[in-house]
Amino acid sequence: MSSFFFGQWEKTLGVLTKKIAINMIINTAARINTVEEYYFSRKLKELDLLRKNGQEIINLGIGSPDLPPAPAVVTALGTYSESSSNHGYQSYRGIPALRAAYAAWYKKYFSVDLNPESEVLPLIGSKEGIMHLSMTFLEAGDEVLIPNPGYPAYAATARLAGATVRYYELNEAQNWLPNLTELAQTDLTKVKIMWINYPHMPTGTAASADLFEKLVQFAQIHKILLVNDNPYSFILNEQQKSILSVPGAKTVALELNSLSKSHNMAGWRMGILAGDSAYLQEVMKFKSNMDSGMFRPAMLAAVEALKNPPSWYENLNAVYRERRAVVYKIMDALNCAYRKDQVGLFVWAKIKDPSINGFELVDKLLVEKGIFVTPGGIFGSQGDDYIRISLCAKETVLSKAYGLITR
Ligand SMILES: Cc1ncc(COP(=O)(O)O)c(C=O)c1O
Repeated sequence: MSSFFFGQWEKTLGVLTKKIAINMIINTAARINTVEEYYFSRKLKELDLLRKNGQEIINLGIGSPDLPPAPAVVTALGTYSESSSNHGYQSYRGIPALRAAYAAWYKKYFSVDLNPESEVLPLIGSKEGIMHLSMTFLEAGDEVLIPNPGYPAYAATARLAGATVRYYELNEAQNWLPNLTELAQTDLTKVKIMWINYPHMPTGTAASADLFEKLVQFAQIHKILLVNDNPYSFILNEQQKSILSVPGAKTVALELNSLSKSHNMAGWRMGILAGDSAYLQEVMKFKSNMDSGMFRPAMLAAVEALKNPPSWYENLNAVYRERRAVVYKIMDALNCAYRKDQVGLFVWAKIKDPSINGFELVDKLLVEKGIFVTPGGIFGSQGDDYIRISLCAKETVLSKAYGLITR
């Protein structure tokens, strides 16, 4: 692809931006300047523009499952949509059947007892729960412990809530696990929330046996609300773990979960916040002022999804395992090192060549081969020398990418 092409593209984007600036005569709130448009939101526009200009792009960046939900789920959505009584506003906390199904799912797979009446709050995807929690618990003067590398929404929502972001560094040498001893030696008096996310995205680290116990103990000692963001618990992960399974955890811990990855329902926006009713009631004060419930047929279909047998997850993982084998080959071809014990929807790998970082490698791959992968640096500075490849592309597409790279 020529540099002329990129010049043109920048010009087009420049014109667009200028147009917006000229038309906009009202100032934004200061808070909006604490964040940027989400990386993938910007990047997808860029990829779209490249496609419109005739460039074929293979997108291996995003963790959006390409496989369908179970057939019964899709059928249920259609069937329930046909009823004229299913189209009105719904309860702000989801229908009882959905809360009961989430509670049964947590009991079956995580051995956690949740009262479906008071300890389960269905969400429009777990991402919105991150915002709800930040808005409910954070304000100026509060500090938030956020993993570096980690999912960017934790920091963005903390900033939007006016709080101060305090990154805790994860690194490969310590198996991407937090160093609680080191953290305990710092001043934690202003820390209100600690975000954790095991299985960890983007590094694919599974929760270790005693990690959650230590974290709960840490949160109890320092009076910190510990939130585990758990959307990857079923993907290439042998054993599901919940922070709420630690005895006494509910006094300080909450958990987010989601059907996006586990049931191929990312576009459906089906998530859950689980934990003690006192915390959930506070979150409801924010949430009920923001949305007006979810589409009833979608909730009823989600109930079907939550009934999927264990073979559902096994079959899904068999597909991801096959794809992962091709991604390993791609990573080898890109001279990147990776661990094979990763769980979740991605392969995370370190660039062996010290003269090039993740952003540079990603740009080079996009320009020279038309392949988009995610630079590890978007998850924090600890990811600068890494890239992440998603398993949400068919094996044929991955093989095509491999062919392009090795050509
Ligand atoms: C770590 C992490 N948390 C939360 C989410 C959001 O998932 P959901 O689709 O449930 O909003 C994602 C999505 O990619 C994620 O990677």
